Amino acid sequence: MLPECDSPNARLAVLARQLCAGGTDGSTWEHVQQAPPDPIIGVNDSYRADTDPRKLNLGVGAYRTEEGKPYVLRAVREAEAALAADPAANKEYLPIAGLPEFNRLSRELALGPGHAAIRDGRVATVQALSGTGALRVGAEFLAQHLPPGQPRVVYVPNPTWGNHKTIFGKAGMQVREYRYFDAKTRGLDFAGMCADIGAAPPGAVLLLHACAHNPTGVDPSPDQWRQLLALTQEKRLLPFFDSAYQGFASGDLDADAASVRLFASAPGPQEMVLAQSFAKNMGLYGERAGALSVVCRSKDVAGRVESQLKLVIRPMYSNPPMHGAAIAARVMADPRLNALWKEELAGMANRIKAMRQALYGQLVARQLPGDWSFVLKQIGMFSYTGLSKAQCEALTRKWHIHLTMDGRISMAGLSAASCPYLAEAIADVVATGGSA
Ligand SMILES: Cc1ncc(COP(=O)(O)O)c(C=O)c1O
Repeated sequence: MLPECDSPNARLAVLARQLCAGGTDGSTWEHVQQAPPDPIIGVNDSYRADTDPRKLNLGVGAYRTEEGKPYVLRAVREAEAALAADPAANKEYLPIAGLPEFNRLSRELALGPGHAAIRDGRVATVQALSGTGALRVGAEFLAQHLPPGQPRVVYVPNPTWGNHKTIFGKAGMQVREYRYFDAKTRGLDFAGMCADIGAAPPGAVLLLHACAHNPTGVDPSPDQWRQLLALTQEKRLLPFFDSAYQGFASGDLDADAASVRLFASAPGPQEMVLAQSFAKNMGLYGERAGALSVVCRSKDVAGRVESQLKLVIRPMYSNPPMHGAAIAARVMADPRLNALWKEELAGMANRIKAMRQALYGQLVARQLPGDWSFVLKQIGMFSYTGLSKAQCEALTRKWHIHLTMDGRISMAGLSAASCPYLAEAIADVVATGGSA
């Protein structure tokens, strides 16, 4: 019961004091359950909370220097400086579809500048909140605009990046898996992949990682990509490429776009969807620079598709942020910055390749049972070790090595100095099964 009060204001003040003093009793959100930490982002929290000086963060996929520090590319710093000094630059709203120059350069980066689909005006591109935002806008568009009567179903690899299923599921798509990883060989289960994709209903969406598959680091070979294209066409599936690592896998932007270009150039002309991220290849993680492109049959269709993409975006966040897209556009457009970017990109990819060699050498030196050459064969940011959850938990508990519990390690988080320590820790958990 509230005590007698002279005025409504006094009564409210007493009520507020009672609520504060009395804990959460009357809270509108009393029933809200604690959500589990994100399996990937949560690794950062456990790393931060760890006070052991030997601690190592191999969880989140972000590039680190040999000294373990985040890296801002020189090309990016220079583009930022030029933007800051540009008297014509302003902070006005971007159009709903984003910065036109960024959109043009992004699709050219993926498909190649002279691509017929671009020349014909058949590609609808919108700027997006990095790769995640591009996937989400693409998924929402598909859920609303796949032909009537066609199943709203997307096939994703098993395993895949942890967010894919949630993104498509939240957008209203039914998510099914196709086999991808062969745990025995720690390579591609190509026969299983083809069997599952071949059994998909016509019109289903097929999510493909353009290169450097996350989490496995295992990609189809060029010949396997050709077979996948034939299968996709035969079964009339809609390819949806997720390109989060262009240039980061091999160090070469064109080589890493080979799968996307193969599909986009198929006779047909092929229709497809493409999500691009500049988080890894330009180090623009927090700037949220990305793009979504829909390759259509005609310029007319592309125009209508773009108009509908804008209707997806407008009630979500109205229009995208300017800064990251302006940086990326400048880096792509300016020949000198572009050359510098490519040089730095190759440098990052090469450092990761060197870490693979170093870790493999350290593992072999410890004579671990089994074949660990997959560390060399897998590409891109991650290695998928095949370590069990118990072994991963032991790596964190006993060795202060923080990683996702599926056994994925970010090679970009390693240095020449930390490779022997990781190899020692892996040797230990392999020997004990993670029980010690
Ligand atoms: C396969 C894949 N797709 C998309 C993303 C999205 O990244 P972002 O939203 O930071 O661009 C990631 C990030 O790790 C990824 O690995």
